[in-house]
Amino acid sequence: MGGARDVGLPSVHRSGRLPERVTIWEVGPRDGLQNEKSTVAVDVKLEFVQRLADAGLTTIETTSFVHPKWVPQLADAEQLLERLERRAGVRYPVLVPNERGLERALAAGVEDIAVFASATETFAKRNLNNTLDGQFALFEPVVARARDAGMRVRGYVSMCWGDPWEGDVRPEQVAEVAGRLYDMGCWQLSLGDTIGVATPGHVEAVLAAVTQRVPVDAVAVHFHDTYGQALANTLAGLQQGVTTVDSSAGGLGGCPYAKSATGNLATEDLVWMLDGLGIEHGVDVDALVGVSTWMAEQLGRPAPSRVVRALAE
Ligand code: HMG
Ligand code: MG
Repeated sequence: MGGARDVGLPSVHRSGRLPERVTIWEVGPRDGLQNEKSTVAVDVKLEFVQRLADAGLTTIETTSFVHPKWVPQLADAEQLLERLERRAGVRYPVLVPNERGLERALAAGVEDIAVFASATETFAKRNLNNTLDGQFALFEPVVARARDAGMRVRGYVSMCWGDPWEGDVRPEQVAEVAGRLYDMGCWQLSLGDTIGVATPGHVEAVLAAVTQRVPVDAVAVHFHDTYGQALANTLAGLQQGVTTVDSSAGGLGGCPYAKSATGNLATEDLVWMLDGLGIEHGVDVDALVGVSTWMAEQLGRPAPSRVVRALAE
């Protein structure tokens, strides 16, 4: 493998308002693997998570404590966490939809959870078997009990830039859902473009509405790359003060309950852009490409990431 340095790592060119450092929230083992047709063996998942940490990722969303019939790909959450050697300085958040999920997470010694809300009525039904309003009643005791137990709770908001059943989503609606999660005690809100339809101007509009309701320091962005806009959308988010970006190694991902959701923004593509902008992130792009190339072999198909394809042998 040649590696980033041999192909001309981008020299630094900064412009406009950009942060000095970005936290990458790696979602490959959760958002990536939840959408695979086949279930990946627990040994492979363990190696994936460990190699992501080796590459410098310090937040690795590891699995979900959801109903195993809803997401069979992650039904091994207990086994995975029992065998995972957790490292100092690395956080391993998991998704939790309800109190049953929280009990499982507590028993597994988890320190970081994420509840996941919908900005739309239809997706609340399809993803949580609930209503838009009902989802808050579902999460309220989860967030309260988790915080009492000393956990950090992130709140996702899905369908922030469009919903395949309802079409356009009003930015004020997204701000309202994010605000309610923030008031409930979520320390961070991750705004999801679940089906990857956003474009940069639209990102600005939603962030403008959300940051009227919650501080920008508490906002992360989560773009899927269905229409190839995820990186442009991320840049728009950084220019508006966002400093946490979700991505998945190799561009794995999607959502089994949202038609047309494809992979997340690839972590390698994000890292390449951040390097060019001189923004710190702590990830070794060559090591990460090695992980994604290995994972693609396990899955039997090439990684969607352009940077992986450019840098791999
Ligand atoms: P439900 O069927 O309404 O559940 O599903 P229920 O509360 O009526 O319970 C039914 C049975 O399930 C009971 O068992 C419960 O104990 C059991 P019984 O008494 O009948 O034997 N049960 C559970 N078992 C294990 N773990 C649990 C659990 N909860 C209930 N946690 C539920 C409601 C929320 C559980 C279901 O809808 C579910 O699991 N949904 C998860 C869907 C999911 O994981 N989607 C993907 C993640 S979201 C995403 O990808 C978007 C994101 O990336 C951001 C973006 O891109 O926008 C985050
Ligand atoms: Mg997602």
